[in-house]
Amino acid sequence: MTLVIRNSAELQDKVAAWKRSGMLVGVVPTMGALHDGHLSLVKAARAQSDRVIVTIFVNPMQFNNTDDLSKYPRDEARDLALLDEAGVDVLFAPDVAEVYPDGFSTTVSVSGVSAPMEGEHRPGHFDGVATVVAKLFGMTQAGRAFFGEKDWQQLQVVRRMVRDLNLPVTVIGCPTIREADGLAMSSRNVRLSHEDRSMAPLLHQVLQELAASLRAGADVGVALASARAELAAKGFGTVEYLDLRAGDSLAPLAQLEDNARLLVALWLGNVRLIDNIPV
Ligand code: PAF
Repeated sequence: MTLVIRNSAELQDKVAAWKRSGMLVGVVPTMGALHDGHLSLVKAARAQSDRVIVTIFVNPMQFNNTDDLSKYPRDEARDLALLDEAGVDVLFAPDVAEVYPDGFSTTVSVSGVSAPMEGEHRPGHFDGVATVVAKLFGMTQAGRAFFGEKDWQQLQVVRRMVRDLNLPVTVIGCPTIREADGLAMSSRNVRLSHEDRSMAPLLHQVLQELAASLRAGADVGVALASARAELAAKGFGTVEYLDLRAGDSLAPLAQLEDNARLLVALWLGNVRLIDNIPV
Protein backbone atom coordinates (compact mmCIF):
# COMPACT_ATOMS: atom_id res chain seq x y z
CA MET A 1 0.00 0.00 0.00
CA THR A 2 1.47 3.38 -0.98
CA LEU A 3 1.61 5.69 2.02
CA VAL A 4 0.70 9.33 1.30
CA ILE A 5 2.80 11.91 3.17
CA ARG A 6 2.28 15.66 2.85
CA ASN A 7 4.58 16.91 5.57
CA SER A 8 8.37 16.95 5.24
CA ALA A 9 9.04 16.24 8.97
CA GLU A 10 7.01 13.03 8.70
CA LEU A 11 8.80 12.11 5.48
CA GLN A 12 12.20 12.67 7.07
CA ASP A 13 11.32 10.38 10.01
CA LYS A 14 10.26 7.67 7.59
CA VAL A 15 13.40 7.99 5.47
CA ALA A 16 15.67 8.11 8.54
CA ALA A 17 14.18 4.80 9.72
CA TRP A 18 14.78 3.22 6.29
CA LYS A 19 18.34 4.48 6.24
CA ARG A 20 19.03 3.14 9.75
CA SER A 21 18.19 -0.30 8.35
CA GLY A 22 20.71 0.25 5.56
CA MET A 23 18.20 0.84 2.78
CA LEU A 24 18.92 2.80 -0.38
CA VAL A 25 16.19 5.31 -1.13
CA GLY A 26 15.22 6.31 -4.68
CA VAL A 27 13.07 9.30 -5.65
CA VAL A 28 11.08 10.04 -8.79
CA PRO A 29 10.15 13.74 -8.81
CA THR A 30 6.97 14.45 -10.83
CA MET A 31 4.19 16.98 -11.22
CA GLY A 32 1.54 14.23 -11.35
CA ALA A 33 -0.84 13.45 -14.24
CA LEU A 34 1.19 10.27 -14.45
CA HIS A 35 1.64 8.28 -17.65
CA ASP A 36 3.74 5.31 -18.76
CA GLY A 37 6.83 7.55 -18.99
CA HIS A 38 6.62 8.24 -15.24
CA LEU A 39 5.89 4.57 -14.55
CA SER A 40 9.06 3.59 -16.43
CA LEU A 41 10.99 5.86 -14.02
CA VAL A 42 9.27 4.14 -11.09
CA LYS A 43 10.26 0.77 -12.54
CA ALA A 44 13.90 1.87 -12.82
CA ALA A 45 13.77 3.26 -9.28
CA ARG A 46 12.34 0.01 -7.93
CA ALA A 47 15.06 -1.99 -9.68
CA GLN A 48 17.84 0.25 -8.33
CA SER A 49 16.65 1.15 -4.82
CA ASP A 50 15.26 -0.58 -1.73
CA ARG A 51 12.54 2.01 -1.11
CA VAL A 52 10.89 4.34 -3.64
CA ILE A 53 9.37 7.77 -3.07
CA VAL A 54 7.43 9.49 -5.85
CA THR A 55 6.86 13.20 -5.35
CA ILE A 56 3.89 15.01 -6.88
CA PHE A 57 4.12 18.77 -6.71
CA VAL A 58 2.91 21.14 -9.43
CA ASN A 59 5.63 23.69 -8.82
CA PRO A 60 4.32 27.23 -9.39
CA MET A 61 7.88 28.59 -9.46
CA GLN A 62 8.72 26.85 -12.75
CA PHE A 63 5.66 28.03 -14.72
CA ASN A 64 6.33 31.19 -16.68
CA ASN A 65 2.76 31.14 -17.97
CA THR A 66 -0.17 31.33 -15.50
CA ASP A 67 -2.53 29.77 -18.03
CA ASP A 68 -0.26 26.72 -18.33
CA LEU A 69 -0.17 26.45 -14.50
CA SER A 70 -3.94 26.68 -14.10
CA LYS A 71 -4.57 24.20 -16.94
CA TYR A 72 -1.94 21.70 -15.77
CA PRO A 73 -3.80 18.36 -15.45
CA ARG A 74 -4.24 17.09 -11.86
CA ASP A 75 -5.78 13.83 -10.66
CA GLU A 76 -4.18 12.66 -7.44
CA ALA A 77 -6.60 9.78 -6.82
CA ARG A 78 -5.79 8.25 -10.22
CA ASP A 79 -2.05 8.88 -9.74
CA LEU A 80 -2.13 7.22 -6.31
CA ALA A 81 -3.85 4.13 -7.71
CA LEU A 82 -1.15 3.84 -10.40
CA LEU A 83 1.66 4.26 -7.86
CA ASP A 84 0.11 1.71 -5.56
CA GLU A 85 -0.09 -0.79 -8.40
CA ALA A 86 3.53 -0.01 -9.31
CA GLY A 87 4.71 -0.82 -5.79
CA VAL A 88 5.75 2.68 -4.70
CA ASP A 89 6.37 2.96 -0.96
CA VAL A 90 5.60 6.63 -0.41
CA LEU A 91 3.80 9.32 -2.37
CA PHE A 92 5.08 12.66 -1.10
CA ALA A 93 2.53 15.30 -2.12
CA PRO A 94 3.21 18.52 -0.22
CA ASP A 95 1.16 21.69 -0.71
CA VAL A 96 2.66 24.99 -1.83
CA ALA A 97 3.04 26.31 1.76
CA GLU A 98 4.98 23.19 2.77
CA VAL A 99 7.50 23.68 -0.05
CA TYR A 100 7.59 27.49 -0.01
CA PRO A 101 6.70 28.59 3.53
CA ASP A 102 6.40 32.28 4.41
CA GLY A 103 9.77 33.92 4.15
CA PHE A 104 11.18 31.45 1.61
CA SER A 105 13.99 33.45 -0.04
CA THR A 106 16.34 31.10 -1.86
CA THR A 107 16.69 30.53 -5.60
CA VAL A 108 19.02 27.98 -7.16
CA SER A 109 20.15 29.28 -10.52
CA VAL A 110 22.31 27.14 -12.80
CA SER A 111 23.97 29.21 -15.51
CA GLY A 112 25.30 27.83 -18.81
CA VAL A 113 23.16 24.78 -19.57
CA SER A 114 20.01 26.64 -18.42
CA ALA A 115 20.49 29.54 -20.81
CA PRO A 116 19.56 28.40 -24.36
CA MET A 117 16.38 26.81 -25.71
CA GLU A 118 13.92 26.39 -22.80
CA GLY A 119 15.87 29.06 -20.90
CA GLU A 120 15.36 31.56 -23.72
CA HIS A 121 11.70 30.77 -24.30
CA ARG A 122 10.61 30.15 -20.71
CA PRO A 123 12.46 32.78 -18.64
CA GLY A 124 12.90 31.71 -15.02
CA HIS A 125 11.71 28.15 -15.72
CA PHE A 126 14.98 26.43 -14.82
CA ASP A 127 15.47 28.55 -11.68
CA GLY A 128 12.12 27.15 -10.59
CA VAL A 129 13.09 23.60 -11.54
CA ALA A 130 16.54 23.73 -9.89
CA THR A 131 15.15 25.29 -6.72
CA VAL A 132 12.35 22.77 -6.29
CA VAL A 133 14.54 19.78 -7.21
CA ALA A 134 17.21 20.88 -4.67
CA LYS A 135 14.41 21.26 -2.14
CA LEU A 136 12.92 17.83 -2.95
CA PHE A 137 16.37 16.26 -2.65
CA GLY A 138 16.68 17.87 0.79
CA MET A 139 13.20 16.83 1.86
CA THR A 140 13.44 13.23 0.65
CA GLN A 141 17.15 12.65 1.44
CA ALA A 142 17.16 10.13 -1.44
CA GLY A 143 20.43 8.60 -2.63
CA ARG A 144 19.23 8.11 -6.21
CA ALA A 145 16.97 10.30 -8.34
CA PHE A 146 15.34 9.29 -11.62
CA PHE A 147 14.55 11.74 -14.42
CA GLY A 148 13.28 11.22 -17.97
CA GLU A 149 15.42 12.03 -21.00
CA LYS A 150 12.30 13.55 -22.56
CA ASP A 151 13.26 16.72 -20.65
CA TRP A 152 16.87 16.47 -21.81
CA GLN A 153 17.86 20.03 -20.94
CA GLN A 154 16.29 19.69 -17.48
CA LEU A 155 18.35 16.53 -16.93
CA GLN A 156 21.56 18.43 -17.77
CA VAL A 157 20.56 21.30 -15.45
CA VAL A 158 19.94 18.87 -12.56
CA ARG A 159 23.22 17.02 -13.21
CA ARG A 160 25.14 20.32 -13.25
CA MET A 161 23.49 21.46 -10.01
CA VAL A 162 24.26 18.17 -8.25
CA ARG A 163 27.91 18.33 -9.34
CA ASP A 164 28.32 22.01 -8.49
CA LEU A 165 26.71 21.75 -5.04
CA ASN A 166 28.12 18.28 -4.16
CA LEU A 167 24.61 17.06 -3.42
CA PRO A 168 24.73 13.46 -2.10
CA VAL A 169 22.48 12.01 -4.78
CA THR A 170 23.14 10.06 -7.98
CA VAL A 171 21.08 11.30 -10.92
CA ILE A 172 19.88 8.60 -13.30
CA GLY A 173 18.50 9.53 -16.74
CA CYS A 174 15.93 7.12 -18.22
CA PRO A 175 14.95 6.82 -21.92
CA THR A 176 11.95 8.69 -23.34
CA ILE A 177 8.83 6.54 -23.54
CA ARG A 178 6.81 7.01 -26.72
CA GLU A 179 3.30 6.15 -27.81
CA ALA A 180 3.12 3.40 -30.48
CA ASP A 181 3.00 6.15 -33.15
CA GLY A 182 6.20 7.82 -31.87
CA LEU A 183 4.78 10.77 -29.91
CA ALA A 184 6.85 11.30 -26.75
CA MET A 185 4.63 10.79 -23.69
CA SER A 186 3.85 13.99 -21.81
CA SER A 187 1.21 15.04 -19.30
CA ARG A 188 0.31 17.91 -21.63
CA ASN A 189 -0.62 15.56 -24.53
CA VAL A 190 -4.15 15.17 -23.11
CA ARG A 191 -4.71 18.82 -24.04
CA LEU A 192 -4.18 18.14 -27.78
CA SER A 193 -7.33 18.27 -29.92
CA HIS A 194 -8.26 15.06 -31.73
CA GLU A 195 -6.91 16.45 -34.99
CA ASP A 196 -3.66 17.73 -33.45
CA ARG A 197 -3.13 14.44 -31.63
CA SER A 198 -3.18 12.58 -34.95
CA MET A 199 -0.67 15.03 -36.42
CA ALA A 200 1.69 15.19 -33.41
CA PRO A 201 3.69 11.99 -34.23
CA LEU A 202 4.96 13.67 -37.42
CA LEU A 203 7.31 15.63 -35.15
CA HIS A 204 9.23 12.49 -34.19
CA GLN A 205 9.22 11.39 -37.82
CA VAL A 206 10.74 14.71 -38.98
CA LEU A 207 13.38 14.47 -36.21
CA GLN A 208 14.32 10.95 -37.26
CA GLU A 209 14.59 11.95 -40.93
CA LEU A 210 16.70 14.95 -39.96
CA ALA A 211 19.02 12.74 -37.86
CA ALA A 212 19.38 10.33 -40.80
CA SER A 213 20.25 13.13 -43.21
CA LEU A 214 22.85 14.53 -40.77
CA ARG A 215 24.39 11.08 -40.39
CA ALA A 216 24.52 10.85 -44.18
CA GLY A 217 26.63 14.04 -44.22
CA ALA A 218 24.08 16.84 -44.87
CA ASP A 219 25.15 20.38 -43.98
CA VAL A 220 23.83 21.11 -40.47
CA GLY A 221 22.44 24.61 -41.20
CA VAL A 222 20.76 23.53 -44.44
CA ALA A 223 19.27 20.37 -42.92
CA LEU A 224 17.87 22.26 -39.89
CA ALA A 225 16.33 24.93 -42.14
CA SER A 226 14.67 22.35 -44.37
CA ALA A 227 13.29 20.43 -41.36
CA ARG A 228 11.79 23.69 -40.03
CA ALA A 229 10.20 24.32 -43.44
CA GLU A 230 8.83 20.79 -43.47
CA LEU A 231 7.28 21.20 -40.00
CA ALA A 232 5.60 24.42 -41.14
CA ALA A 233 4.37 22.71 -44.33
CA LYS A 234 2.88 19.85 -42.29
CA GLY A 235 0.86 22.41 -40.29
CA PHE A 236 2.79 22.78 -37.01
CA GLY A 237 2.74 26.21 -35.36
CA THR A 238 5.72 28.30 -34.25
CA VAL A 239 8.96 26.36 -33.91
CA GLU A 240 10.65 27.96 -30.89
CA TYR A 241 13.88 26.09 -31.50
CA LEU A 242 15.18 23.17 -33.50
CA ASP A 243 18.85 22.78 -32.66
CA LEU A 244 21.76 20.38 -32.96
CA ARG A 245 23.70 20.53 -29.70
CA ALA A 246 26.33 18.67 -27.68
CA GLY A 247 24.40 16.30 -25.42
CA ASP A 248 26.05 17.31 -22.13
CA SER A 249 27.22 20.95 -22.46
CA LEU A 250 24.34 21.83 -24.83
CA ALA A 251 26.78 23.92 -26.90
CA PRO A 252 25.41 24.50 -30.43
CA LEU A 253 27.06 22.34 -33.09
CA ALA A 254 27.81 23.44 -36.64
CA GLN A 255 29.05 19.93 -37.42
CA LEU A 256 28.06 16.48 -36.31
CA GLU A 257 30.01 15.20 -33.26
CA ASP A 258 29.79 12.20 -30.95
CA ASN A 259 27.01 12.72 -28.41
CA ALA A 260 25.18 15.20 -30.69
CA ARG A 261 21.47 15.63 -30.02
CA LEU A 262 18.56 17.24 -31.82
CA LEU A 263 16.25 19.21 -29.56
CA VAL A 264 12.98 20.86 -30.51
CA ALA A 265 10.14 22.88 -29.01
CA LEU A 266 7.12 23.91 -31.05
CA TRP A 267 3.45 24.71 -30.80
CA LEU A 268 0.64 22.52 -32.01
CA GLY A 269 -2.69 24.27 -31.47
CA ASN A 270 -2.42 25.67 -27.95
CA VAL A 271 -0.06 22.96 -26.70
CA ARG A 272 3.69 23.34 -26.56
CA LEU A 273 5.51 20.10 -27.44
CA ILE A 274 9.17 19.33 -26.76
CA ASP A 275 11.19 16.37 -27.94
CA ASN A 276 14.80 15.31 -28.50
CA ILE A 277 16.72 12.42 -30.00
CA PRO A 278 20.38 11.41 -30.23
CA VAL A 279 21.98 11.67 -33.67
O1 PAF B 1 9.88 17.15 -14.96
C1 PAF B 1 9.05 17.52 -14.11
O2 PAF B 1 7.97 16.95 -13.97
C2 PAF B 1 9.38 18.70 -13.20
O3 PAF B 1 10.11 19.66 -13.89
C3 PAF B 1 10.10 18.29 -11.91
C4 PAF B 1 11.45 17.65 -12.18
C5 PAF B 1 9.24 17.32 -11.12
C6 PAF B 1 10.33 19.52 -11.03
O4 PAF B 1 9.14 20.14 -10.68
